[in-house]
Amino acid sequence: MLVFSSLQCYTTCMQTIYLSHLHDQAFRAKFHQKQLACDQLVTLTGRTSIPLEGPWRLCPDQYDTCLRAGWYAYTGKETTPVDCDFEFWKEVIVPSVWNTEHEPWEYYEGSMLYRTEFASSQKEGTRTFLVFEGVANRAYVFLNGIYLGFHEGASTPFSVEITASLQDRNTLLVCANNTRSVSSVPSENTDWFNYGGIYRQVHLMQVSPSFIRHWYVRLLDAHTLGIDIELSGIHDSVQVVCKELGLSLLVAVHDHKASVQVPFTGQVWDIENPKRYTFCLQYGQDRVEDTIGLRTIACRGNQILLNDKPIFLRGVCLHEDHPDFGRYVNENLVRRSLEDAKLLGCNCIRLSHYPHHRYMAEIADELGMLLWEELPVYWAIAFSEPAVLADAKNQLSELILRDRNRCSVIIWSVGNENPDTDERLAFMSSLASLARSLDPSRLVGAACLVNEHTLCIEDRLEACLDVIGLNEYYGWYDPDMGKLKILLEHSLKDKPVLITEFGAGAKAGFHDAEAALFSEERQALFYKQQFVLLLGSPTVSGTFPWLLYDFRSPRRMNKYQGGYNRKGLIDQSRRHKKLAYATVQTEYRRIKEQGR
Ligand code: GCU
Repeated sequence: MLVFSSLQCYTTCMQTIYLSHLHDQAFRAKFHQKQLACDQLVTLTGRTSIPLEGPWRLCPDQYDTCLRAGWYAYTGKETTPVDCDFEFWKEVIVPSVWNTEHEPWEYYEGSMLYRTEFASSQKEGTRTFLVFEGVANRAYVFLNGIYLGFHEGASTPFSVEITASLQDRNTLLVCANNTRSVSSVPSENTDWFNYGGIYRQVHLMQVSPSFIRHWYVRLLDAHTLGIDIELSGIHDSVQVVCKELGLSLLVAVHDHKASVQVPFTGQVWDIENPKRYTFCLQYGQDRVEDTIGLRTIACRGNQILLNDKPIFLRGVCLHEDHPDFGRYVNENLVRRSLEDAKLLGCNCIRLSHYPHHRYMAEIADELGMLLWEELPVYWAIAFSEPAVLADAKNQLSELILRDRNRCSVIIWSVGNENPDTDERLAFMSSLASLARSLDPSRLVGAACLVNEHTLCIEDRLEACLDVIGLNEYYGWYDPDMGKLKILLEHSLKDKPVLITEFGAGAKAGFHDAEAALFSEERQALFYKQQFVLLLGSPTVSGTFPWLLYDFRSPRRMNKYQGGYNRKGLIDQSRRHKKLAYATVQTEYRRIKEQGR
């Protein structure tokens, strides 16, 4: 930790630092020793917090001079020349991605320095945490010139206690870096745009000295409610109240944990009837409240059972991408996506290929929509590197700790389309067992591989999954739709198989009677032919068209695409429904009428 006793020693130190940093090629190492990982995470949901939203100062730092030269320690009162002026930096609104804030930054990849000031209103005897909901792709956090720590991962929350470092007036500097790297999760190459920035909310959260760190409420079976609570403090019991269920319990605390099982006689949460209950937990002075739906999800053979009843997943895939806001979302945008999926006839959404904003699961709980949530273990990953596995495990833990009280979430996916190697198998199997250890109440899945020779779903990872995802593009990348028929016949499994992706590109408004490539007619025809085979096969327990909206991808540069993946059923503006939208809608209406 770099602090300075006097200006004199600071100046001499600065000259030394100024020179020394020029030669320090391993300057990041010291910062990476202080990880802000899932063990420090404090659940935000159900608590009041102070949002650190609005104008922040922002400045590109292409050469990471802030970390190298210690800009984070500048106070603005330096008497020797310094190379940065916080007041001079551009003002941007946080949360947002920098790519949409200033045109020259649209394609910028690297480090950006965010800075804001806030007054501390710390009440006597309370503890204060900084909570970040999402910084792409990694963050170095400094408060009043003091280094608090580093977080890796663009899509999951992290928090750090700042009680000891708070002053009446505080400066918060965050170095956000979105450099793609072979040893990160996701890796360098993805079929989505690599936005950067503090694109989700930042909060100041005050809790009493003894507080509730995490709580986990779910049905263990149709008749039993299970509640597990993680606590930090001195009290020997925690109160759990749910008026509607007539619950008022005092649960003993052992070793900072409390656990209880009680009979459940209430109404289960379901898509048609998204019933939720309000639970209040009181531990000493600390109080949290959460509205939670209670349902069971399980598999029986190749069927998925929601509350013990078979359900066919009428799905669609979705990216967190908007032409005006990039990866930034607010409740309205999220609600709109859910409503577009509902209108399409969906009962499930695959959130690809990374954890979306928590609003998605919260509003899906409210509206009655099931969710597949996924870790960005996407395509090629450095599977043999222990640090990469640790990163993936940390991201998975942060996701599960954030969303495991969300009844809409039914499947944790540990990855998508990865090479069939021993390292990958070991990597993803350990993620599957971690998911089960953190949350045995949900299913674990992944988008698996097809043996193109035998035309059969054949993936060693299947053994550690509850549901098998299959991405197939017969009739698009591979024009031979006949292969799909054979694949389905060869792939009857004793586990549910979900078509986690199938789709075709279409430029909105491009029509062609001959159904030329990228015409709306071609896309609609693709879905007509695919659904005949998919819905006619006993192998398939759910379908997820790729995908709801067109989205940005630097890998898509033909004249129809222009930097967008055009497989959306709706274009990126969310206004133009392509012909295929009605095709899928008709199929989903038919499935629903059949009561599947
Ligand atoms: C892949 C991949 C997606 C990609 C899609 C496509 O299956 O999982 O991320 O966008 O195919 O090619 O459009």
